[in-house]
Amino acid sequence: MARHPTLVIFGASGSLTFRKLIPALFNLHRKKRLPEGLQIVGVARHAYDDESFRNELAEALRSDPQAPREPDAWAGFARAIRFVKGDVSEPDGLAAVRRVLDADGGRLLYLALAPWLYDKALVSLQRSGLAAPGPDEAAWRRVVIEKPFGRDLESARALNRRILEVFKESQVFRIDHYLGKETVQNILVFRFGNVMFEPLWHRNMIDHVQITVAESGTVGERGAYYDGAGVLRDMFQNHLLQLLSLIAMGAPNRFEANALRGEKVKLLDSVRRISPATAGRHMVLGQYDGYRGSAGVRRDTKTPTFAAVRLYIDNWRWHGVPFYLRSGKGLAKRMTEITIQLHRPPHNMFELTNGRSPEPNRISLGIQPDEGVHIRFQTKVPERGMEVRSSTLQYHFNEPGVPGPDAYERLLLDALNGDASLFMRHDEIEEAWSIIDPLTRVAEDPDAPAPPSYKVGSWGPPQADALIAGEGRAWVLDTASERD
Ligand SMILES: NC(=O)c1ccc[n+]([C@@H]2O[C@H](COP(=O)([O-])OP(=O)(O)OC[C@H]3O[C@@H](n4cnc5c(N)ncnc54)[C@H](OP(=O)(O)O)[C@@H]3O)[C@@H](O)[C@H]2O)c1
Repeated sequence: MARHPTLVIFGASGSLTFRKLIPALFNLHRKKRLPEGLQIVGVARHAYDDESFRNELAEALRSDPQAPREPDAWAGFARAIRFVKGDVSEPDGLAAVRRVLDADGGRLLYLALAPWLYDKALVSLQRSGLAAPGPDEAAWRRVVIEKPFGRDLESARALNRRILEVFKESQVFRIDHYLGKETVQNILVFRFGNVMFEPLWHRNMIDHVQITVAESGTVGERGAYYDGAGVLRDMFQNHLLQLLSLIAMGAPNRFEANALRGEKVKLLDSVRRISPATAGRHMVLGQYDGYRGSAGVRRDTKTPTFAAVRLYIDNWRWHGVPFYLRSGKGLAKRMTEITIQLHRPPHNMFELTNGRSPEPNRISLGIQPDEGVHIRFQTKVPERGMEVRSSTLQYHFNEPGVPGPDAYERLLLDALNGDASLFMRHDEIEEAWSIIDPLTRVAEDPDAPAPPSYKVGSWGPPQADALIAGEGRAWVLDTASERD
């Protein structure tokens, strides 16, 4: 009998499954990239049967303007989908799931559940035997854990301990969907697939680095969750520190999970911790006007919806180079960019108008929506003596208006194939929390004043500009181009 791999999605009636997982799996099916004979089993407490589950998934896909309209392909894909009622918080709640699974096939157990259910779900996976080893290597068992992973170092450690009671680290796939983005992976190729840039990647050449992850949307319907988290937990601990690791780490000796993650952990370990006592010098918080009136948000909340943080990395490569990180909701534009600003020329021999100083070179990596590289350098203004101006060389990864694949396509495929390179290891998550914990402690100090407010559609509170301007620098966004 054929031994089919199975993807079991716990939380199959939820938004992640409908909005991300099923569309990504369907796209992979259309591209014929899914493992041969893959079965998909959805699990939740909802009273679906196979047919009503498939119909609702199809309906959701039809109402998504981005989704492909291919009824024949969908019919072929939907045949592999089943639904089993199950409750991860009941002692025997997953018995029915166990009965439908092929014990000899590989098994990817995807926890698309609210974070407070992870612990219960892990206990249930163990108790029901769903996580038990199969008869041989082909009957692999793996688990995918969604973000957020803990809400501080202590809870992340406790969750890691629980996971490692049930699975080995090599079986665990902790998601930060940012790592599934093509443009984020391109950071590695840009840095380590070329010799041209790496000699510049050093304190001798680089003045500072900026990372902006800006959202133009406000909290919307996520108010209740967001108010308990804030921007430091929601964006910094995961996405911003992942981008920081990739832009600043040393070269791994191969593209393989442990080599790559080992370098990231080493880098995070070198980030100088900001103590609560000195946080005021290195961090600016903000809250957008009107946040307190959002559904699910406390009327007197001090939760920050914006933060700008200056970090230093204590190693030979980066000693003394500031890394400015900022992220927020309700900002002027939805965009993610990393800018590497080089030192200014040490001496100027050209004409500079209006008392300008020589412009520094900049390398900007656009992560979204302008996915590409912009390099800024000086050129001569024609017929104006030796006057110089700043020009840009641009490269874009995609044609305008043609989006790359969704991050979940890559991540689901990698998890099904057992490649954990783009997933986080337990120590990586714990290092990241140990950087962020002192900052959240300051943000949540009951005696602290409310964060300064900023207007929706701005770039955050003016204090964020002052943080960087005080050192003679300014926030820049080079990839905010006419392509958006
Ligand atoms: N939505 C997104 O776009 C998104 C993006 C990134 C990360 N995430 C993460 O993904 C996870 C899921 O998010 P979501 O937005 O999909 O949440 P959601 O819409 O609230 O869905 C939660 C799912 O869990 C199921 N569930 C609840 N209690 C259960 C139980 N005792 N046993 C079995 N199933 C149970 C619910 O179904 P029943 O009530 O029918 O049981 C539902 O299917 C979260 O960790 C979230 O942070 C979501």
